[in-house]
Amino acid sequence: MSKKSHTGLVAALTRMALQAHILGQIILFSHVLIELPGQAVVADDRGVDEMWMLDELAHAGAEHLDEKFIAGFDRKQGYPDPAADIAAFTALGLDGTSTVVDLGAGTGQFAIPAGRRFGRVIAVDVSAAMLAALRAKAGDKAGDKAGDKAGDKANATPGGAGLECVRGGFLSYSPGGPVDGVYTRNALHQVPDFWKVIALRRIADMLRPGGVLRLLDLVFDFGPEEADAVFGDWFAHAAANPADGYTAADYAEHIRTEYSTFRWLLEPMLAAAGFEIADVSYERRLHGAYTCVKVG
Ligand SMILES: C[S@@+](CC[C@H](N)C(=O)[O-])C[C@H]1O[C@@H](n2cnc3c(N)ncnc32)[C@H](O)[C@@H]1O
Repeated sequence: MSKKSHTGLVAALTRMALQAHILGQIILFSHVLIELPGQAVVADDRGVDEMWMLDELAHAGAEHLDEKFIAGFDRKQGYPDPAADIAAFTALGLDGTSTVVDLGAGTGQFAIPAGRRFGRVIAVDVSAAMLAALRAKAGDKAGDKAGDKAGDKANATPGGAGLECVRGGFLSYSPGGPVDGVYTRNALHQVPDFWKVIALRRIADMLRPGGVLRLLDLVFDFGPEEADAVFGDWFAHAAANPADGYTAADYAEHIRTEYSTFRWLLEPMLAAAGFEIADVSYERRLHGAYTCVKVG
């Protein structure tokens, strides 16, 4: 080997070692606040808090930490039927023995009904106030009504026997063992693209081989030259009253301050993280619903 190619090889190996180290630190890093029903919050620090790690709470969206906003959250968001999301998991073999993690679970619009269908559902959110709302809802009759659109009232345990709440985030939560499914809706856009890839890679690491990721989010299915037209149409169909839904001002703020990305950037991110897309659909070129399978 010539001296020049030897130097090139050493540089390439050094680069790979550094990348592996950084990824290893990200995967190892874990700072989870565990909430058990009826118990105090327990700080559980594992690993190293790297100085370059994203502050997930600072990126969570101030409104998601605000009890007043959270009290009106379900009415503003509407009550999405969980049936299609549950069916996406069951079609790929998940059942009453499966464990599903809901990342960015919010008030539990998916986690509560899913807790009645799957063996164990872990609702994870960085916002303590969101988790408090979820737990209050899971424990009362109003929560049953809001969450149980899929029916099955006969078996309805409030919140489902297997529902757990854990305070943590995309970049910090770890289930401690392989799970069968991960669900996340309207939450991944809280982090910039670099962190989305890290988050997706961490999700792949949580799943068993063949495990399922169901990802729904505001994702832009158009080219940059179409942004004006698509956003104009979006704003034209927005709610007038902020209590009843998202207004044009809400959408504009989302575009300005949060991190929704393009479909043609997100799909390579999913592949890089180790997922195959089994099914995808888009609503009005603005909202994507993905069912992905962990490869390998
Ligand atoms: C728009 S809400 C969606 C809630 C729920 N998934 C739903 O569809 O009803 C976004 C949620 O993501 C949570 N969140 C924001 N950043 C997060 C992060 N880095 N990790 C986990 N959850 C996060 C917020 O606290 C909030 O509850």
